[in-house]
Amino acid sequence: MKKILVTGGSGFIGSHLIDHLLQMENVQVTNLDNMDDFYDRRIKEANILPHLQAKNYEFWEADVFDYKLLMELIDDSFDAIIHLAAKAGVRPSIRQPQHAQKVNVEGTLNLLEIARERGISKFVYASSSSVYGINKRVPWREEDTACQPISPYAATKLAAEHLGHVYHHLYNIQFIALRFFTVYGPRQRPDLAIHRFVDRIHRGLPIHVYGDGSSMRDYTYVGDVVQGILGALQLQQPGHHIFNLGNNQTVSLKALIAAIEEVVGKQALLVHLPPQAGDVPLTCASIEKAQQYLKYQPATELKQGLQHFYQWYLEWKHHRETMPDEKPLSKIG
Ligand SMILES: NC(=O)c1ccc[n+]([C@@H]2O[C@H](COP(=O)([O-])OP(=O)(O)OC[C@H]3O[C@@H](n4cnc5c(N)ncnc54)[C@H](O)[C@@H]3O)[C@@H](O)[C@H]2O)c1
Repeated sequence: MKKILVTGGSGFIGSHLIDHLLQMENVQVTNLDNMDDFYDRRIKEANILPHLQAKNYEFWEADVFDYKLLMELIDDSFDAIIHLAAKAGVRPSIRQPQHAQKVNVEGTLNLLEIARERGISKFVYASSSSVYGINKRVPWREEDTACQPISPYAATKLAAEHLGHVYHHLYNIQFIALRFFTVYGPRQRPDLAIHRFVDRIHRGLPIHVYGDGSSMRDYTYVGDVVQGILGALQLQQPGHHIFNLGNNQTVSLKALIAAIEEVVGKQALLVHLPPQAGDVPLTCASIEKAQQYLKYQPATELKQGLQHFYQWYLEWKHHRETMPDEKPLSKIG
C-alpha cells in the first residue's frame, strides 16, 4: 500500500489528481487543504464530495502554515508528498506579496521539514512556468538557469524550488518540481482567464483584453498535467529534478478568444486595456525532458479541452443556481 499526502487536493488541479489516484490499486490518499476563501468554497466542496465516499481517502482541513498541527497530523507512514497547496495567481500576489510568501515559501518549507523529520523521501512540488518570467530564450528549457520572475508569485515558486534543492542536498530527499503552464479544464479557478472569459461571453457581458491580444500562452489541459504528476510519482532516480508540464503549442490571446466564441456559440464583446503588470508576454515550454523521463504526452486539443470546461461550467452554474442557500460543509476530517 502506498500512502500519499496531497496538499491543496480540494482545488482545481489537486482534485483531478485525486480522482486518478483513487482509481489506482493499493493507494491511500490524504488531502490536506485549508479550503481557503480565495474563491467560492462551494466549488472545492463539490470537487471533494465524490472523494469523501472512497475508503482509501482521508481529508484534513488544515493550513500548511500551521507547523505544529502538521507535526501532529503527519506521521512516518507516508511514502510521498505532492505539494499543490498555494496562494496561486500573479495578481493576488501583487496585492498581497507577504501572504503569497507565507503560504508558498514558508508553507513549503514546513512541509519539507516534515518530510525530513518523518523520513518521507519523495516530494513532488507544483511550480509554475512563471518562474521563467521574461526570459526570451524560447522554448523554455529546464536547464536554462536564467529565470527572470516578474511577480511576487513567480518569485515564491522559484524560492520553493531552491528550498527543494537544499533539502535534496542536505537530506537526500527526492525533490521534483513540475512547472505547470496555464492549466485549464473543468473546475478551473474562477480568477483564470478561460473561466472568466467563458463566464462573461456566456452571459453576454464584455471581457477585458489586456494588451493587443498578441500575448501567447501554452495552455495545458488538466488531464494531461495529471498524467505528468503521476509520471513524477513513478520516477525512481534520486535527485532534484525540474520538469516543464506544458503543451508546446503556444496560442495567442486572440486565438483563444476565437476558440471560446466557437465553443460557447456567442461573439465576445471586447474592452481593450493596457497590458497588466506582472503578466509575461509569452509562455512556451520545451517538454522533451518530461516526455523522456515522465512519459508525459499532452494529448488534448484546445477546442476539445474548452468543450470539457464549458460542459462543467454549465453544470456548476445550474447546481449553484438551484441550491443557492446550501450550507457549507464544516470541518471534515
Ligand atoms: N492552475 C494553473 O494554471 C497553475 C499554473 C502554474 C502553477 N500552478 C500551481 O498549481 C497548484 C494548484 O493550483 P490550482 O490552480 O489547482 O489552484 P487552487 O487554488 O484551485 O488549489 C490550491 C488549493 O490549495 C489550498 N490552499 C491554499 N492555501 C492553503 C494553505 N495555506 N494551507 C492548505 N491549503 C491551502 C486551497 O484551498 C486550494 O484548494 C498551485 O501550487 C499553483 O501555484 C497552477
